Amino acid sequence: MPTITFANEKKEIQVPDGANLRRETLQAGVALYPGIHKVANCHGLGSCGSCRVLVTKGMENTSRMGVLEKARLGVSLAYIGNEETMRLACQTRVHGDITVTTCPPANLYGENFFS
Ligand code: FES
Repeated sequence: MPTITFANEKKEIQVPDGANLRRETLQAGVALYPGIHKVANCHGLGSCGSCRVLVTKGMENTSRMGVLEKARLGVSLAYIGNEETMRLACQTRVHGDITVTTCPPANLYGENFFS
């Protein structure tokens, strides 16, 4: 069974192969949505973009990014500089061990912003 490690919370959970990252995160009691998005989100439809996470280890163990997810992240400032690690939890299936950072801050002043 794949293991999801939540870096900020220092918590590990085991999930079935193919598990939905959003569902497993919420079931584990890990905060996934920042601020007002705890109540104002699209509930997994892939349209609000508020379930952004960083998969800092094991990205190869997740499902491929679909058209909807690419389109939604493509219009997000937070995606800039995080293209290799950012995913929408609701659109991500887990097929192996991963490490996740929930509620990542926007990288507005990062070294990659203006490149
Ligand atoms: S919950 Fe809205 S995009 Fe994932």
